[in-house]
Amino acid sequence: MKVFRSSLLAAAALLCSASLLAQGAPKLKVGLMLPYTGTYAALGTAIENGFKLYLSEQSNQFAGREVEFVKVDDESDPSKATDNVNKLIKRDNVDVIIGSVHSGVAMAMAKVAKESGTLMIVPNAGADAVTGPMCAQNIYRTSFSNWQPGYAMGEVMAKKGLKKVVTITWKYAAGDESVRGFKEAFEKGGGQVVKELNLPFPNVEFQALLTDIAATKPDAVYTFFAGGGAVKFVKDYAAAGLKKSIPLYGSGFLTDGTLDAQGAAADGLFTTLHYADSLDTPRDKAFRLAYAKAYKLQPDVYAVQGYDAAQLLALGLKAVNGDLSKKAEFSAAVEKNKIDSPRGPFTISRAHNPVQDIYLRQVSGKENKVVGIASKALADPARGCRL
Ligand code: BEZ
Repeated sequence: MKVFRSSLLAAAALLCSASLLAQGAPKLKVGLMLPYTGTYAALGTAIENGFKLYLSEQSNQFAGREVEFVKVDDESDPSKATDNVNKLIKRDNVDVIIGSVHSGVAMAMAKVAKESGTLMIVPNAGADAVTGPMCAQNIYRTSFSNWQPGYAMGEVMAKKGLKKVVTITWKYAAGDESVRGFKEAFEKGGGQVVKELNLPFPNVEFQALLTDIAATKPDAVYTFFAGGGAVKFVKDYAAAGLKKSIPLYGSGFLTDGTLDAQGAAADGLFTTLHYADSLDTPRDKAFRLAYAKAYKLQPDVYAVQGYDAAQLLALGLKAVNGDLSKKAEFSAAVEKNKIDSPRGPFTISRAHNPVQDIYLRQVSGKENKVVGIASKALADPARGCRL
């Protein structure tokens, strides 16, 4: 009798979802909260481009649902982030929030997402806390944690036998955590960070700090800058005459999406990142060709992360037949499947951060060329995450 009743219920549920499909599934409202102005503007645009490219490859539907976008320029300003994300969730009733680039903005978004249960996919911001103490079943990241590229470069530079390093970065979560990850591996490998320099985000008045580096004479410098700030820093470093005497290393954001503007000042720089321009795999070649055709631009790491945010969303939605209320099933599907990324296939950890290869790259002309794998299948330690 019990078996008969549950099969009746299952049949009714099937009929119900079939009739929903026949009526046409409701549109999926996607809230894009990204920077479209300021030093990270180009990063926001590349993420949106990548996301939309994958969507177009799925006939503009995820699990049978057409997609409607609501866009907010978050200006990389954490003080406006809570209001911005609340508007998307409460006023615009979005089903999912995609954002952001800046770690401070992403942490404010994650707090609201966690409290409201709204699905959130981070397509860039590396804030360790998002997949650490703030981790949640409904929060995912398709990019990296700030710790990951920093840690990988710490190992590389220690293995090179460098001993005394100065770090320089913006004073906010991304810079602090990138340096912390670097320092953890570098000091474990026998090196020493002799000075930590920083300036407020998005300040680009580097002169006094460059003078300090010249006077300190370390073996090398490790840095995190990105976007417009990275362009200016690399040019100023070369113009100050430091490039030849004190080698500059960085997490890969230093030279990604920036090489046209940096020109010869970037040539030869070594960085670590989960993407490069010369991977030469069929998957990446197809992606690069499609991106160049659609946008008349070469893709960068941000475009890949946006593309993969759309892939993750499609994967989860398919597993729940388009029904986002099934959070546990969505999460189980994402955790057990690989994302077939242009960067190379990667998995999503229990804390919802990519477990991925970190490449060592060197700038040659207009490309970040792969030199090798700095760290294979590197997983963020997810300190403080309880799931
Ligand atoms: C961040 O704020 O997390 C970030 C911004 C740009 C590039 C990488 C990380």
